[in-house]
Amino acid sequence: MERLQKVIAQSGITSRRKAEELITEGKVKVNGTVVRELGTKVTGKDRIEVNGVQIEREQSVYFLMYKPSGVITAVSDDKGRQVVTDYFQDIVEERIFPVGRLDYDTSGVLIMTNDGTFANELMHPKYKVDKTYIAKIKGIPEREVLKKLERGIMLDDGKTAPARVKFLSGDKKKQTAIIELTIHEGRNRQVRRMFEAIGHPVLKLKRERYAFLDVKGLNPGEFRELTPHEVKQLRNQAVTQPSKKRGHN
Ligand code: URA
Repeated sequence: MERLQKVIAQSGITSRRKAEELITEGKVKVNGTVVRELGTKVTGKDRIEVNGVQIEREQSVYFLMYKPSGVITAVSDDKGRQVVTDYFQDIVEERIFPVGRLDYDTSGVLIMTNDGTFANELMHPKYKVDKTYIAKIKGIPEREVLKKLERGIMLDDGKTAPARVKFLSGDKKKQTAIIELTIHEGRNRQVRRMFEAIGHPVLKLKRERYAFLDVKGLNPGEFRELTPHEVKQLRNQAVTQPSKKRGHN
């Protein structure tokens, strides 16, 4: 579901401000009925007319990108730094945006789309989409210390949900370790803060998997379209996860 004025603006016929005016002036119809309410939400199936002419809805597009580190997860940056949408310029016409965010220094799987409903579904905290991260951390943690991450750990913004943790390797000489961490929450800098809280700051971070998707076959900065089946699977996952996990956390 997206706001009517946004959908009108996205069709390219006018700005969002002007679209709001058109709505309040009674010049917009949804499925044949005049709508003057600015908060009105519409889906991809609704027929929208402006001044009696049906608008062209932008096709929904879905991409999986291998975000490199050193790039901002945004569509623009006021300081002129590189943003993820720069990689799609001149290739993809649709106005795409990232689903959620990865830190400037984090690399890995990032989904990009122009479908706001899809993005909201995936990002909604009640939908528990698994995200797997590979972290290179400072020091070599004891098993007991890693268990704290599994149980959930108290951060400034509350206790984290139980996580899955796998010790992959440790380098005694360099005093670093590689840990795989799977979480389904998406709080700001969550993985970095979780490791910080157990005294092992993150040196390097990659999102290895988002649900069942990984970056196999892609180099940093490259992307591919998601198949219709993958989009459907992601949607299903977002919608069915809450009931599956109900009562467990
Ligand atoms: N957690 C983090 O700390 N950083 C990210 O980019 C993603 C998850």
